[in-house]
Formats: sequence, structure tokens, C-alpha cells
Amino acid sequence: MTRRPVAVVTGTTSGIGCQLARRLAHAGYHVVSVNRRAGPGDDARLADLTDTAHLAHTAHAIARDYPCVDLLVNNAALMLGDYRYTADGVEAHFAVNTLAPFVLMQALRASLARAGNGRIVNLVSAVIYEADTRASEIDQLARPTQPFVPVFGPYARSKRALAALGLALQAAYAKDDIRVCGFDPGSCRTPMTLGRGMPWRLLLRHFVRMRTPDAAARELVTMLGAGGPPAGIVSDGRWLAPPPLLDAGYQQDVLALCRAQAVALLPMPIPAAG
Ligand SMILES: NC(=O)c1ccc[n+]([C@@H]2O[C@H](COP(=O)([O-])OP(=O)(O)OC[C@H]3O[C@@H](n4cnc5c(N)ncnc54)[C@H](OP(=O)(O)O)[C@@H]3O)[C@@H](O)[C@H]2O)c1
Repeated sequence: MTRRPVAVVTGTTSGIGCQLARRLAHAGYHVVSVNRRAGPGDDARLADLTDTAHLAHTAHAIARDYPCVDLLVNNAALMLGDYRYTADGVEAHFAVNTLAPFVLMQALRASLARAGNGRIVNLVSAVIYEADTRASEIDQLARPTQPFVPVFGPYARSKRALAALGLALQAAYAKDDIRVCGFDPGSCRTPMTLGRGMPWRLLLRHFVRMRTPDAAARELVTMLGAGGPPAGIVSDGRWLAPPPLLDAGYQQDVLALCRAQAVALLPMPIPAAG
């Protein structure tokens, strides 16, 4: 009897994640959803991604219950109208958009390896290509000191860090036959882009060109069905060279920051990367 593939997807309560859960289930996946409130999925697990320790417990429970995980989609994210801090004192964009995917990637690594040809898809964004070469960017992730800037401030930084994290882990994970892809879904009409974090001028400029969240979900599920997406960064349906800021030094800095945060915040160790 063939095993039903298992997909772990975060943030299935709205937008792209909701459509993705539906399409993956239709494509034959057993979908394990991770949300802070009830959401679609064959197996709904609760975790607020701002609570890193609780997330780690949930991730370990999933790893225990699913020895084989074929796909992890780190979809859940925040784009706020100001800085916000978690109970641990970590800036929320970094906690949800970067650190939570790191915890899930690490905690589910063995299950992804056991599945053979495991895939990790991290939802990134075209904002990672916007010019911002401040060398101090790494210091602004967990405890920022610079004034808040919508979209191109903490949101863009957290997504660049997530893309860098994927690139940093790629070689080590490839040894376990796991591919890590940063997938940019394009501009989609969702609660995130219609929310407080989106300035009006950007919304007006992008609104007519925005796609439906289902179009993005369909693109990703079609890629998965065709054996993709490839390791690296996929934007606008094609593989793109990472932006210059995401060089090897920056990748290692982000990895070191996430490891340090995990050690500081988690009650139990998660397997070391590399
Ligand atoms: N929409 C776009 O144009 C666009 C463009 C580029 C990249 N992306 C990326 O695509 C992904 C999906 O975005 P979307 O537009 O579909 O956003 P969305 O509709 O706002 O959905 C975000 C999801 O993340 C969940 N989430 C947020 N904070 C959470 C927390 N603390 N704990 C647990 N879950 C949490 C939300 O849950 P709640 O319902 O509980 O809030 C929701 O399920 C994101 O990674 C985003 O950065 C989107």
C-alpha cells in the first residue's frame, strides 16, 4: 500500500495558506496545519508562532506523530503597521516570519529526511530584492532600533532573513535529500495586503495587478506535482539568483542569530543544523 504524503503547512486560516491546504488535500496530501486558531487541515495543530517555546513543543509533537513528512510549507507571516514585541521581547516580524520557520525546519528535519525527497517551501517576497544594503541589518532583526518603515522595514528584513536561512541550510539539508526553496507567491489580494501593514499608495499601485491567493497556491502545487520547486529562490514562476545582500556571510549571520535565539528561548534543544 502506498503511503499518503504528509504536508505540514503553517497559517491555513486565510489567504494563500488556506487555498494551499485545500489544493494539497485535493492533490492527495494529508495536511497537518499549524495555526493559532482552528483552521483547515486533516490534522489541525494549535500554536501561536510568537510563542517560540510552545511552537517547539508543537513541532516536536508533529515529528513524533509523523515519522515521515514529505513537505513543510512555512507560509504563516505577519506584516504589521508598527513594531510589536513577543512575550520573550523579540520583534514579532522576526519571531513569526524567520524564527518560527527555523524551529519547524530543524524540528522536522529528521521526518523530512525519512520521507526521502523531502521539500521545504518558505514563503518569501519580492521585497527581498529591494535595495537595502545596510551592513547593520542583522542587528535590526530581533531587537530593532531604527524607526519603523512599513513593508520595507521589519517585514522585508524578516523575509530577507528567511530567504538567507533557506540558502544557509540548503547544503546541509541536501545531504538528507531535502530541498529548501524560498517561494515568492507574487502580489496577492489577501488579509495581509489589505491590512494595516500595507500603505495606501502601495495598495493603490498594486491592487489592479494583484492575483488571487488561489492563483499562487495553484502555481506552487503545480510546481510540486512537476517535481519542483528547485532549491534556491523562485519568483514569478522561475528560479532567480539571490539578491547580493544574501551573500554567504549574511546567511551564516542569520543562521547564528536563529540558533542563539533558539538556545535562549527553547526549553529543549532542537537538532543542530549542518
Ligand atoms: N499576499 C501577498 O501579496 C504576498 C506577497 C509576497 C509574499 N507573501 C507571503 O505569503 C504568505 C501568506 O501570506 P498571505 O498574504 O496569505 O497572508 P494572510 O492572509 O495574512 O495569512 C497569514 C497567515 O499567517 C497566520 N499567522 C499570522 N501570525 C501568526 C501567529 N502569530 N501564529 C500563527 N499563525 C499566524 C495567520 O493566522 P491568523 O488568521 O490567525 O491571523 C494566517 O493564517 C506570507 O508568508 C507572506 O509573507 C504574500
